[in-house]
Amino acid sequence: MTPALPKLLVVGLGLIGGSFAKGLRQQGAARVIGFDANATELREGLRLGVIDEAADDLCAAVSAADVVMLAVPVKVMERVMAQIAPVLRPETVLTDVGSVKGNIIDVARRVFGEVPANFVPGHPIAGSEKSGVSAAKADLFAHHKVILTPMAGTDRFALKLVSDLWQRLGADVHHMDVKRHDEVLAATSHLPHLLAFSLVDTLSNDHENRDIFRYAAGGFRDFTRIAASDPMMWHDIFLANRDATLKVLDEFSAGVERLRAAIDAGDGHQLLGIFTRAKSARDHFSKILSGTAYSMPMNSSNVRFRVQPGGQINGTLRVPGDKSISHRSIMLGALAEGVTDVEGFLEGEDSLATLQAFRDMGVVIEGPYQGKVRIHGVGMHGLKPSAGPLYVGNSGTAMRLFAGLLAGQAFDSELTGDESLSQRPMERVAKPLRSMGAQVETGANGCPPIRIRGGSSLKGIDYDMPMASAQVKSCVLLAGLYSEGETRVTEPAPTRDHTERMLQGFGYPVSRAGASASVVGGGKLSACHIDVPADISSATFFMVAASIAPGSEVILEHVGINPTRIGVINILCAMGGDLTLLNEREVGGEPVADIRVRSAALKGIDIPEDQVPLAIDEFPAIFIAAACAEGTTVLRGAEELRVKESDRIQAMVDGLLALGVEVEGTPDGAIIKGGPIQGGKVDSLGDHRIAMSFAIAGLRARGVIEIDDCANVATSFPNFIELACAAGLSLDAEG
Ligand code: S3P
Repeated sequence: MTPALPKLLVVGLGLIGGSFAKGLRQQGAARVIGFDANATELREGLRLGVIDEAADDLCAAVSAADVVMLAVPVKVMERVMAQIAPVLRPETVLTDVGSVKGNIIDVARRVFGEVPANFVPGHPIAGSEKSGVSAAKADLFAHHKVILTPMAGTDRFALKLVSDLWQRLGADVHHMDVKRHDEVLAATSHLPHLLAFSLVDTLSNDHENRDIFRYAAGGFRDFTRIAASDPMMWHDIFLANRDATLKVLDEFSAGVERLRAAIDAGDGHQLLGIFTRAKSARDHFSKILSGTAYSMPMNSSNVRFRVQPGGQINGTLRVPGDKSISHRSIMLGALAEGVTDVEGFLEGEDSLATLQAFRDMGVVIEGPYQGKVRIHGVGMHGLKPSAGPLYVGNSGTAMRLFAGLLAGQAFDSELTGDESLSQRPMERVAKPLRSMGAQVETGANGCPPIRIRGGSSLKGIDYDMPMASAQVKSCVLLAGLYSEGETRVTEPAPTRDHTERMLQGFGYPVSRAGASASVVGGGKLSACHIDVPADISSATFFMVAASIAPGSEVILEHVGINPTRIGVINILCAMGGDLTLLNEREVGGEPVADIRVRSAALKGIDIPEDQVPLAIDEFPAIFIAAACAEGTTVLRGAEELRVKESDRIQAMVDGLLALGVEVEGTPDGAIIKGGPIQGGKVDSLGDHRIAMSFAIAGLRARGVIEIDDCANVATSFPNFIELACAAGLSLDAEG
């Protein structure tokens, strides 16, 4: 026997109550009875098929219901609760949709003596300026959030039942503390309504109001749409959520006052600061909602790549700007005196996180727009403490370089990152910084967060780096800018030298002798122009792709070929690759070239160990080249790969094994035997370079390759799919 449908009584058939009723009725999830004090609305509800049955006696309907949904205005809630309290059976579940929760819970406490265990307070974040049952829509709540604010005594079955009903309507159910709910809603919903009502009222009282309304453009219409909402409902809400509304209104008024003062004083810098910060927050609002923003922990498991087997790639391609140089351009531009213009900036999640962190420390930054960024430098000592921790997303470079420059500031700071970054080693920078006199703490196992106490006086050190890391070198040199005397770093093998080059470009002397680089603290940076070359690490995917796919030929334009980054070119050439550097030139202190790559029969090699630091980010793609080569490729001395965005040795070995390639991981590298690549499923472990490497493997695969967890490709190569498809790869993404 199928269980009888629960009897749902919806009290109040407005837009929200009506939509709840209509949706559940269409779902066949409940037998829906409606009640409304307005008999016309009730009849209309029945006529429109919103409800199965119209109740004319509220108390009789309540005593027969399994679930009672109160969808009446906040101010009427007390009267309705008092009316139904005597007839509400203890097993009946009571819920509501009021926009204010603290006040409604107080009402329930007053009416029932205590908040009933079966009462589940709720609030759907959906609606429109329309009202009444005729506006009801069965799918009004689909993909909208519904906040439930259960209390300690709330019955968990009642909670589950109410959650289930909302989920049946496609809603995304969240739980929140009552007070927090009221504060959040005061800011995100109540305040905007108040402002819209106020603006329209103020302007319509103006004696020239006709002209104002006649010439009102999109801005006025967009801003004031919600001033057409139900006045009585909003009257109730503001009175019910008095304290939280007043608090956020005061904060807003202070913000408006700051703008007023800036306009009055002709302070364009202040205005630009406020507007650029606001624009960036607004631009990222949609990303925050989709859970992929750099300013939120990334939920990166939701994107899956599917690559069809075979094909070739052709064309002239420009991959995005260099990630390492993009980070550094913002950092040094912010600390410089004057305005720095950057072009070719990588608009990927990682470098955007760095940009945002400087905005959080009070730096005015315009853009990015089509790769252009303008940074209004604040000078070496002009940064301000951020309101909260600085979130640097997935970026090890940002966290480690920031640690160095924040160690020299007068204020305390905290650096946090996403799940992957939170597992990466940070003691490698904390240790040398401590020996310079900085107060630096790392989290469990030496991983993030990094907490830095400001105001320490730093002293230059002579640091012999235990590992070949440009991030550690740069961190120490940046702290050296704030230290007394000379800071020297000596590296065990050459690593990328963008920091040294760019410091010189900003007019800060750097002495370089053999494996050492040194700076003397106390100098200053002067603004300059930066042209960021295309990232050789991103170009690598196309170098390997063109090499392995017969019949391919690509030209990769304006690629940075800094000698500390060209390991991949050397390694591919040693494997028999056909790569030619064209039009070599220098832009802003960095060598660049166009690189022509033609397909070639690759052969396996022993990768020279001195090339490892020069190709450190390129190994995932080189593993694919090796899998397509004739013979065996051996990689040694690359243990650093185990502490990148993922353990890249393990991730590549597991993925290649899943595709039928003979490969064996070793503590510091791998042994890869070239041979056929089958189709199959691989996991990128949220690592952008693993995801893109397996995507290009599709060119030589015998079946479809599915790659999980690919959202982080946006950290370094936001238009990868577009560019790869334009070149000839058959790749699409789901999720
Ligand atoms: C980078 C240095 C390298 C590299 C990273 C970027 C930099 O890391 O892997 O992607 O911008 O300094 P290590 O220096 O730690 O090897």
